Amino acid sequence: MSVRIGINGFGRIGRTLMRIVSQALDPGITVVAINDIAAPDRLAYGLKRDSLRGRFGGTVATRPGQLIVNDRSIRAFQEQQPSRIRWADEGVDVVIEATGRFRGGDLARAHISHGGARKVLISASADNPDAYLVWGANQDSYDPDRHDVVSPASCGVNALSVMAKVLLDRYDLHSVHTSVILAMQGWQKVHDQSVGTSRDDPRLGRAGAQSTIPHDHVAGDLVSVVLPRLGEICHSYYCVPTPVGSLAELGGQIDRRVTVEDVNRAMAEAAAGPMRGLIDYEPDPTVSIDVLGNPASCLFDPAGTRVTADGRVKVRGWFDNEWGFSHRLLDLARLLGERESVPAGARLHPAVV
Ligand SMILES: NC(=O)c1ccc[n+]([C@@H]2O[C@H](COP(=O)([O-])OP(=O)(O)OC[C@H]3O[C@@H](n4cnc5c(N)ncnc54)[C@H](OP(=O)(O)O)[C@@H]3O)[C@@H](O)[C@H]2O)c1
Repeated sequence: MSVRIGINGFGRIGRTLMRIVSQALDPGITVVAINDIAAPDRLAYGLKRDSLRGRFGGTVATRPGQLIVNDRSIRAFQEQQPSRIRWADEGVDVVIEATGRFRGGDLARAHISHGGARKVLISASADNPDAYLVWGANQDSYDPDRHDVVSPASCGVNALSVMAKVLLDRYDLHSVHTSVILAMQGWQKVHDQSVGTSRDDPRLGRAGAQSTIPHDHVAGDLVSVVLPRLGEICHSYYCVPTPVGSLAELGGQIDRRVTVEDVNRAMAEAAAGPMRGLIDYEPDPTVSIDVLGNPASCLFDPAGTRVTADGRVKVRGWFDNEWGFSHRLLDLARLLGERESVPAGARLHPAVV
């Protein structure tokens, strides 16, 4: 049975999800509803033309309140508040909350209590979700009875976690440090703007295309949440002026002396085995744009592996921060949708029934 998805926020992530679903032959996911502050004709325009990914490969049309993709009609709501979106009318199983505005678990929960969806997946490092689930690291800890609002953490956490899991499964890895070098994000500024008020750090209001900008992000903490055996992580995070294609590096101390070849073999075996689809092993010399359109959480780069005689190890992997992450969102949506037996609308707040 197909999982019925609603997408809140038809921006970079929302449209990427739509592109993936409409290209896939997988009948396991159907997008049945979208909500955005924009009207359907604008949603259609954004889907048809993409500055990074080119023209949409199918057909896109509109009718009042509907977006029609490849001749299939999708309900297009136009609401500002999650509590006003009637997901239950479309039988939505899982809402993917991709506005970036409702990252708090309690705010996003309105999709269930007022909208009538069954589950919510917040496309970001959310505050207070019921669980952080990263595919390849801890998705088995999903408990359908306790986890209604789930966060997959971030794209960087996904890339770091799969590399860390491979090392953890082979070695006693500790004293971990990580870095994420992230492509430009839509919330960044074109020119210096709102420097005094933008987020907590005034540097995040500086012109995104002109600087490498340090960002005090929780990614390192969340890698330890999904893989607690790693312990506390020393983390750094930078936003850089490339449009897409990001980098994750992870280092730490292991319990024995290894060679570069040992570490790379471990990654290659994982990529061909338990991490198939999540880690892609790329022996060719790679730069960030090469990862465009790669669906893995991490394109492992064996040329980046370093070891020292005293057992320190460092690895690196690239990731398409939109395309790879959106594939993981859909993997999780399938999990959340399939294992749940409560019908859509069953948990509506009494005031809206
Ligand atoms: N892009 C990435 O590489 C990436 C990777 C991983 C995670 N994420 C996370 O995913 C989330 C979305 O990121 P994004 O890059 O897709 O952002 P985005 O391109 O800005 O998309 C957000 C969309 O939501 C719409 N929106 C804003 N307020 C809304 C509301 N109240 N109700 C409904 N729609 C609303 C926006 O409309 P307007 O454009 O008109 O404001 C826009 O279409 C963020 O939390 C981000 O951190 C992004």
